[in-house]
Formats: sequence, C-alpha cells, structure tokens
Amino acid sequence: MSTPPLASGPEGPEGPEGPEGPDALRPLLDTVLGALREGARARGGPLPAGGPDAVAARVRAAVGDVLPDKGDPDALRLLVRALAEGAADPAHPRCAAHLHCPPLAVATAADLAVGVLNPSLDSWDQAPAASALERLVTRALAREAGAADALVTTGGTESNQLALLLAREAHGGSVRLVCGTNAHHSLPRAAWLLGLPEPVLVPAPAGTLDPAALDEALTTLPGPLLVAATAGTTDAGLIDPLPDIAARCAAHGARLHIDAAYGGGLLFSDRYRHRLAGLDAADTVTLDLHKLGWQPIAAGLLAVTHPGDLTALDQRADYLNADDDTEAGLPDLLGRSLRTSRRPDVLKIAVTLKTLGRTGLGALVDQVCAHADAFAALVHDHPGFELYDRPTISTVLFRPAASTDDAVAAVRRKLLTDGRAVLGRARPDGRLWLKATLLNPHTRPDDLAALLQLVEGNTPR
Ligand SMILES: Cc1ncc(COP(=O)(O)O)c(C=O)c1O
Repeated sequence: MSTPPLASGPEGPEGPEGPEGPDALRPLLDTVLGALREGARARGGPLPAGGPDAVAARVRAAVGDVLPDKGDPDALRLLVRALAEGAADPAHPRCAAHLHCPPLAVATAADLAVGVLNPSLDSWDQAPAASALERLVTRALAREAGAADALVTTGGTESNQLALLLAREAHGGSVRLVCGTNAHHSLPRAAWLLGLPEPVLVPAPAGTLDPAALDEALTTLPGPLLVAATAGTTDAGLIDPLPDIAARCAAHGARLHIDAAYGGGLLFSDRYRHRLAGLDAADTVTLDLHKLGWQPIAAGLLAVTHPGDLTALDQRADYLNADDDTEAGLPDLLGRSLRTSRRPDVLKIAVTLKTLGRTGLGALVDQVCAHADAFAALVHDHPGFELYDRPTISTVLFRPAASTDDAVAAVRRKLLTDGRAVLGRARPDGRLWLKATLLNPHTRPDDLAALLQLVEGNTPR
C-alpha cells in the first residue's frame, strides 16, 4: 500500500502524493460527509435503538480487526458510518438530556482547519498566528465576563480545577472550598485532587445556594475560604444569587469563583445578560462554549480578574521557552495551561464570534430560552404532567403526574433504549424528575409537543 497523503503540505520530496497539501483532504471529506449521512439515516432518530449491547455488536462488526496486518482503505468510511449510526445526535430535537449542544457547522469547519494545520500552543514556534489569535480572543471574552484575562481549557471541569489551583497558590494549601450542594461535582473533586481541606457543602434547598447559610459558614469557618457559586446549575439551570453571594464574600474576605459553564452564554444576549449581574465580582469565572455556545467539544475558558494570579502557572522548559528566547521577544506560552501540547480550540470560537456577532449569538441564546419557556408551558397546561418550575435558562424539569420514581426512571430508559428520545434526570427535591436541556435553536413547537407525547405514551402505569 502506498503511503497515505498527509492533510497538510507540502509533504517533501519523499511524499508520494506530491505537494497538493490540504487538497488531499477533498476526496476524504466527501467520504466523511457521505458516511455521516448514511450513518444518520441508518440510525433514524436521536439515539441508536437497542441499547448498549446492540450498539457494541454493530461497532464490533464494523471494526472487525482493530489492527489488521494489512490496512483497509475503506476504514474511514466504515468507522465514520459506524460512529454516526451509533451516535447520540445533539442536533436532533428529541436529544435533550445534557449540556451537549449541536455544534455550529462553521465552528466544526474551523476545527477541521485546526486539525490540518495542527498548531500547538505550548511554544510560539509551533503556533505563531494561533497564539496571537488566542491572546486577542481570550482578552475579549474575559472583558465580556468583567475579568482581565482568560485561559482556554478543555471545559468546565478543567476550568474549575484551575480556579481551585489558582486559589491555592494565592492563599495557601489550607484554603477551603465552600460551595452549595447544587455545585458541579468537579469542584469538590478538584479540592480532593489538589489536596485541599474537605470542602464544606452549604444547603441549596431551592436549588440555589442559600446566602444566609453561606453567611453562617463564612462566619464560623476559619479562613482562607474559597466560595464557589454557580450560574446555571447542571440539574435545573438555576443561577445562584450572585450579587448577594459576592457581597457576603467581600464582607468576610473570602475568594469567589463562579462556575458559569452553562449560564455564561447568557452574556451574549441583551435579553438575559442581566441575570449574570454580579459575575464581575468573582476572582475567577468558568465559561464553557461547548454548552450554551454551540461549539464542538472542547471550548472551555477560565476568566481571571487578577492577571497576577496566573504567574502561579509559570513554567520553564528550555526547549519551549528558554529565558533568552523570551528576552528576545518570543511569547512565552507555557504558563497559559497545565497542558503542554495544546490545540487551538480558540479558532472555532473566534470564527463563531465573528461569523454570528453578538446579535447572532444572542439570538441563538434567546431561541433556546424561548423553547424552554414553551416546553414548560406545554407541561404546565397538560393535566398528565407536573412542572418543577419555570426555566431560568433552557432546562425544564418535569414528571408524569402521580408517577413513582421507578416509573419516571423506566420511561427515560425505555425512550433511550428504543432510540426515540434522550432525556436527562435530576433529583432536585429528592423526587426523580425528567430533565429536558434544550440547546437546539432549530427545534420547532411540534418537536416539543411530540417529545411530551412520547413520554406520555411510554410511562408505565
Ligand atoms: C455547572 C457545570 N460546571 C462544570 C461542568 C463540567 O463541564 P465539562 O463537562 O465541560 O468538563 C458542567 C457539566 O455539565 C456543569 O454543568
């Protein structure tokens, strides 16, 4: 078999395909697009039917020998088709379980360019333009959040970890995390990872951090303390009372981190931005554009208010940022992440911001929030369902009326296994609720009605 062409060119004298460079991708792209279409057609719904065993059997059959002696030139088509057939399709209107958004085509196309160019943001000589672009975009997004600078991360989990790391470096290893029971699991986990004291969990009886209970914790606990509030809870999309929390942190000298992995996207909307009042009081803010930002994974950010905090990440490695290179003016990138090799996820973000503009992105945010309002209204008006609450962002919790938790769990699993709808689950009040996280701007009213009808028709009585 001849050596396959490389995505980027020119390949050099021994490259059998010559210096056609990215053009080598053109026929492969046709293959990929065709296989994506075929796979989606074979799936026919938001999720493959049959459950894990059936999916695994189909994948096994498509892959055959994982590392055959002799290569298979049809592997790209076969495997892409298998992955598409067995995908949970976030672009399907009945795929609404998680903070898992349908990515914009323009962002996905930008990601392809990143794959071709393969810049690595650990040194300027591997990413001259990408590093300049990252600088521009992170500064601009940090300003949106009322901060001074931002790091690009792999998502909310890494951003939350970095926030705790920066707090530890600023305040010492005895800094204790104080967060609501509604906080994302990655926060206490980061405290464990970083060897910090056992976190204190403050009650969040209504789904949001209770400021009075927080105040009591801040009054009684010895410092230093790091409070983590949430703007857009995972389970219900609720926003903690940020100005009140910020005021109490200031009064007690506690550091404040806000996990706005979900809610941060509201910054783009004129209509909803006010719900993030208080965000600018945080020392660090987690943002995540692969949630309410329509980016392919990964597109996380950590915004920081005091750029000096980032010196904690300074690192020297002679092959990447030798002192004399830095003194001679080569940008030192190693301290912008804990990773070394790092792909420029910022390109797709930059392309999206420029293509859609604030108005276009804000319109997408407004649409998904409107879908959530419409779905909540359908649930509310239906005698067979109970609505947990009016949505704050784009999450709706609901359950079939007079059903047991087992029945709620069963209908969710049945729809999953049949491949007809993907809904999440949450226990905000001890009872089990179905969760619809609406992130598809193109969902139509009929889709929402059909989703509710499916749940109604499949709930065991
Ligand atoms: C509030 C919140 N923070 C952080 C995360 C973690 O984000 P990621 O999955 O991108 O690491 C999530 C995930 O859903 C989340 O809901």
